[in-house]
Amino acid sequence: MPYVRKIIEEGHPTLRKVAKKVRPAELDDALFQQLLDDMFVTMYEAPGIGLAAPQVDVSKRVFTIDLQDGDPDHGPFVVVNPKFVERRGEVESLEGCLSVPGLVGEITRSEFVTVIGLDRDGKKIRLEGDGLFARCLQHEIDHLDGVLYIDRAKNVRPAVTPEELEAAEGGEANSAAAEAAS
Ligand code: CO
Repeated sequence: MPYVRKIIEEGHPTLRKVAKKVRPAELDDALFQQLLDDMFVTMYEAPGIGLAAPQVDVSKRVFTIDLQDGDPDHGPFVVVNPKFVERRGEVESLEGCLSVPGLVGEITRSEFVTVIGLDRDGKKIRLEGDGLFARCLQHEIDHLDGVLYIDRAKNVRPAVTPEELEAAEGGEANSAAAEAAS
């Protein structure tokens, strides 16, 4: 049965490592598949819309994403060994992170991105989009490179306003409020 794993926080060294590429054979490993199931329940329980393996102290290049907005193009997806194949435009918006609880800041990211990778069965997948989905993809891939949004964000501050609190509590480039504030 999947279980909720502990989300590690800023200051933990795993969050600063460049995560290791997942080997194809690992996809056949029951423990790896368990990790993916655990990441989903951990993400939903947080609650969040994205979770990268390093956030549960596993330094591997894989993340889960699900905007939970009723659009099947927005998840749920597992993305193994993701790579950007396209990034366009620039947009600044409010972001939080499950590993940096209670804080928010404004960060500039690409407006539209296309990401390729493998799904949990090793099949090629291609995700693309703009808005919150694009920001979340970039946020999660940053985690795989040991980067946190606070490294580049402006005006990082404790969440106080309802919009900020929603972004901070939702975490991971999250929330309708963050979208509205963008
Ligand atoms: Co995060």
